[in-house]
Amino acid sequence: MNDTRSDALVFFGATGDLAFKKIFPALLALQQRGHLDLPVIGIARAGWSLDRLRERARDSVLQHGAFDAAAFERFAGRLRYVGGDYNDPATFAAIRRELGDAARPAHYLAIPPALFGSVVEQLAKSGCTAGARVVVEKPFGHDLASARALNRILLGSFDEERVFRIDHYLGKRPVHNMVFFRFANAFLESFWNRKFIKSVQITMAEDFGIQGRGAFYDQTGAVRDVIQNHLFQVLANLAMEPPARIDSESMRDEKVKVLKSIPPLEARNLVRGQFRGYRNEPGVAPGSTRETFAALRLEIDSWRWAGVPFFIRAGKALPVTCTEVLVRLRRAPKIFPACTGVANHLRFRISPEMAIALGATVMDPDDRMIGQQTELLASRRPGAEEMDAYERVLGDAMAGDRTLFAREDYVEEAWRIVDPALQADTPVHEYEPGSWGPAEVDAQLSPPGGWQNPVVTP
Ligand code: BG6
Repeated sequence: MNDTRSDALVFFGATGDLAFKKIFPALLALQQRGHLDLPVIGIARAGWSLDRLRERARDSVLQHGAFDAAAFERFAGRLRYVGGDYNDPATFAAIRRELGDAARPAHYLAIPPALFGSVVEQLAKSGCTAGARVVVEKPFGHDLASARALNRILLGSFDEERVFRIDHYLGKRPVHNMVFFRFANAFLESFWNRKFIKSVQITMAEDFGIQGRGAFYDQTGAVRDVIQNHLFQVLANLAMEPPARIDSESMRDEKVKVLKSIPPLEARNLVRGQFRGYRNEPGVAPGSTRETFAALRLEIDSWRWAGVPFFIRAGKALPVTCTEVLVRLRRAPKIFPACTGVANHLRFRISPEMAIALGATVMDPDDRMIGQQTELLASRRPGAEEMDAYERVLGDAMAGDRTLFAREDYVEEAWRIVDPALQADTPVHEYEPGSWGPAEVDAQLSPPGGWQNPVVTP
C-alpha cells in the first residue's frame, strides 16, 4: 500500500438513505474489482449491531447493486460497526480504537452538513484526524456564506488537499469524456468559440418527482440540488481552456477560471417552476415556493465566450430522464434557396446513454437542392455505464486523486454566481407533471432557435 492510499474508511451515515442506495453498492463493486483493501467502519445510531449493519448492506446491494455472494462475504468481513451519538466523545474514542494502527484513514461524512461541525471537532479531539482525509457529500452549503462556514470547519482540521468534496457527476464517464473529446481533437478548436458558436443549452430532465425526499428537497430546490453543482461542472467542462497538464490541480484551475468569468445570475435570467402536486408530498411545506424546475441564462465573459449565452434547465416530473448538452453553431450563409438553413450543432448526451454527435445538413438524396438534417455520431455507448459514478469517486478519494472533487474556490465561485438570483425570491410558476416545465420559460428564457427537448428511445 503506498502512502497516498487510505488504510481505513470511516463511514458516517451508514444507516442513511444515501448509504443504502449508492454507497454500499459502490463499495461492493470496488470489492468485486479487487479495489477495496481496507477496513470499513460504519458509524450508526446506538442500538445497532455489526450483524444488523451487515444485513442492511446486504439488502442495499440486493436492491440497488449487482449482488455477488463471494464478493459480499469479503466485503462483510471488512465491515466494522461503531454505534453512538455524534456529540458524544465516547463514540469517537471507540472510532479511535477501531482504527487501530491505521495511519491514513478517510472519514466519509454522508450526513447532513449541520452535523459536520461537531463531527469534525470530535474527530480532531479524539486524535482521528492525524494523517486523515475527509470526504463530504453535497450539498456543500446552502449559499456562499454557509459554504464558507463549512469550509472553515473542515479547514480547521484538514488541509485543503485532504478535503474531498463529492460531486458524483464528475464521476460519470460521459462528463469526463467531454473534456477528453474536446482536447483530443484538433478540429473542434477551430470553431469552439464566440465566432462560430451561437448558444449552448444544457438540459437535465428527470421523469420522476422527489421520491420521498420532501424534507431535504424543500430546503434545497433544483438550483441548489443539481444546477449549482452537477450542471456547473458540465458547463465548466464545455467552456474550460486546455489545461497545462492533466494533474488534478491544473484541471481544477481551469474549471475555476470558467466560473470566475461568469457574472452573478440576475433574477430576470432565472425562471422557476414547481410541479402540480409537489406541495402534497410528505415533508413539503403546504405553501412551499421551492422550485422543482429552473431555467437560467448565464454569460461567460471570457475571450473565448463573451456574447455566447449559456442556458441551463433542470427539473423533476418532466417527460423523460435525460441529461444532454446542445451546442448550436451560427448558421451558414444561405446560398441554396431551398435549404432549410438549420444551424450545425454538437450534442453531448450524458444519460441515459452516452453519445457525442455533430449535427450537419446534407443534400436530400432524392432532391438536388433540398437540405436534410443528419448527425455524425462520434461515439455512442448504450445503456448503463460500466462503472457507477459513486464507485469511481469513492475509489479516487481512497486513492487520493483529487481531480474529480470540487475545490474550495470552485464551490465558492459557484455560490457567488447563483446567490443573488436565489435571494431575489423570484416567482415560482406551476407546471403539469409530465410537461417541459412552466410556459413562462419559453416566453422569458428561450435560446435562439428554442429549447431542444431530448428524445429518449427505449
Ligand atoms: C443528486 C440529486 O445529486 O443527483 C438528485 O440530489 C438527482 O435530486 C440526482 O436525482 C441525479 O443523479 P443521477 O446520477 O441519477 O443522474
